[in-house]
Amino acid sequence: MIGYKHILLGLTAIVLITGCGEDDDDDILGTHNQGRDCQACHSNFTIGGTVFTKIDAVNSDATSAAPNHTLKLALEAGTEITLIKGYGSGNAYTTTNTSTVGAFTAQVLDANNNVVNSSNTLSHDGDMLRCNTCHTQNGLNSAPGRITNFRL
Ligand code: HEC
Ligand code: HEC
Repeated sequence: MIGYKHILLGLTAIVLITGCGEDDDDDILGTHNQGRDCQACHSNFTIGGTVFTKIDAVNSDATSAAPNHTLKLALEAGTEITLIKGYGSGNAYTTTNTSTVGAFTAQVLDANNNVVNSSNTLSHDGDMLRCNTCHTQNGLNSAPGRITNFRL
């Protein structure tokens, strides 16, 4: 028999699971560490980044993230890697094997999968997969700032 105490325990568990962040981050929309280095927390992700509507958005600013956008790597070899959308507006990641990724052109896809922004042709390479480590608020290592959903 499922008693009152069991129901109470169950409810407590649900509150603990969903209540651990103040953010509404259980979707491809909402706030979830936008602009931060995904792989710093997700060691199972091989690529991760955020698309913003503003070149100088601050970390976790979901209102400056580009909802339903994602990132694509157009590889020198002719194949492509398209990232999975989510947790949080503008965020994207994959766990796919990247051991053979060499030079690539980084592209931004809008909600209709149109390319709306791009890096220079084949300017990125296989050790540049933690996108937000260079695409910071003001840009590091010559990056212009955030990855944006428009051409600069
Ligand atoms: C400061 C640590 C931290 C950073 C940075 C971070 N996350 Fe998370 N992420 C978490 C935690 C903790 C959870 C699980 C709890 C939750 O649901 O919020 C999570 C859950 C997720 C999930 C649900 C599936 C899973 O693997 O757990 C996805 C997808 C995700 N994050 C994507 C991202 C992306 C994309 C980025 C980079 C833009 C990112 N996260 C940055 C801490 C982080
Ligand atoms: C080591 C630093 C570095 C990393 C990591 C990096 N980039 Fe870049 N990115 C740059 C630089 C420098 C430029 C400007 C020159 C160019 O276009 O290649 C740039 C430009 C871009 C642009 C065009 C300008 C803009 O900001 O929108 C896009 C889009 C882009 N990168 C996407 C990505 C994606 C996606 C990733 C992760 C897969 C990534 N970058 C990882 C350095 C980096």
